[in-house]
Amino acid sequence: MKVAVLKERRPEETRVAASPDTVKKLIQLGASVSIETGAGLFAAFSDAAYEAAGASIAPDFATALANADIVLKVQRPLAGEDGAPDELGAMKQGAVLVGILQPHAERSLIDGYARRGLAAFAMEFLPRITRAQTMDVLSSQANLAGYRAVLEASYEFGRAFPMMMTAAGTVAPARVVVLGAGVAGLQAIATARRMGAVVSAFDVRRAAKEQVESLGASFIEVDEAVDAETKAGYAREMDEAYRKKQEARLADVLKKQDIAICTALIPGRPAPRLITEAMVRDMKPGSVIVDLAVEQGGNCELSELGKTVTRHNVKIVGYPNLPGRIPVDASHLYARNLLSFLSLLIDKETKALKIDWTDEIIAATVLTRDSRIVHPALGG
Ligand code: NAI
Repeated sequence: MKVAVLKERRPEETRVAASPDTVKKLIQLGASVSIETGAGLFAAFSDAAYEAAGASIAPDFATALANADIVLKVQRPLAGEDGAPDELGAMKQGAVLVGILQPHAERSLIDGYARRGLAAFAMEFLPRITRAQTMDVLSSQANLAGYRAVLEASYEFGRAFPMMMTAAGTVAPARVVVLGAGVAGLQAIATARRMGAVVSAFDVRRAAKEQVESLGASFIEVDEAVDAETKAGYAREMDEAYRKKQEARLADVLKKQDIAICTALIPGRPAPRLITEAMVRDMKPGSVIVDLAVEQGGNCELSELGKTVTRHNVKIVGYPNLPGRIPVDASHLYARNLLSFLSLLIDKETKALKIDWTDEIIAATVLTRDSRIVHPALGG
């Protein structure tokens, strides 16, 4: 059983899908591991560290992929478009592919997985059940993104976070509002609190209120009668009447804030628009907005993907891939998530691949197998 780990080639991607620590464990599970040279460069894992853990280093992606039964990726593979390397074409027919495959992003790639007979698993489709917690890449990465978002905000903010009483005068604490109190939002709240800010937060799921308050932040009420949590634990899209109420409430709240951290998302849908241009205009000069939802269209209508822009004296940070801005820990945790997922696919006795297609976690994540698209979200 050969496992291949590639260097990530998509823009802004600094993470890697295995660490020396998980390589050791994969070998204990009965695998041989081939790492493309330089794969861990940005995550501070050298080729030598992987080798010391028992991996072999391949000079290029095609050598790493040759005869590999399992391919570990962070992002979806390249397929030779516009002269890019054809990672997909170099994969063995029938191999297992595991990564954050963004199933809704590029349909032609899904067709490509089916054509090559791959068993392709999209880690973002993991059910949020207790047994899957150690594999939950969305949680491990969102947690770090929430932390990093607050650091980005503090970097752009021309003032301090904590209250300081000095001989030269008193520095007021920063006021931070967090929109969306899921995994990223809760970590943003905790981080901003640790840095001394006065924090408030808002979410459409009622369960978030208690979690926000337990972190020492105040919860912004829009409509106490509304709970938008779905069976899967995510939020649903809100109707027009609610949106109007929310807009009026947020317009009022934002005027008094210094920093807004936006993390509100709805799986498979564009991000909800929460901050309008009029609200930005009314914010205090020098305020900062960090929009984690920018890759899904943004919670703020003035966010621009990949840029920090200043509009109406407010800085709006729209970096994609915030976990990639903290690549060492993001890779460590992601690699452990994948190891935990792989241990579901590997039989401990025979040390070979053995996939139970009826397992809830497997069935929820598999996109293609036996040359067919099988996931219901993709029409399978
Ligand atoms: P997410 O990344 O899809 O969304 C982030 C947050 O935005 C969510 O809290 C959502 O309610 C909120 N949101 C959506 N629309 C909004 C709007 N219009 N206004 C304000 N907020 C809005 O969600 P995430 O962070 O991945 O977590 C979703 C849920 O899953 C949470 O309840 C979390 O506690 C739960 N969870 C459960 C796990 C488990 O194993 N049991 C593991 C991880 C998360």
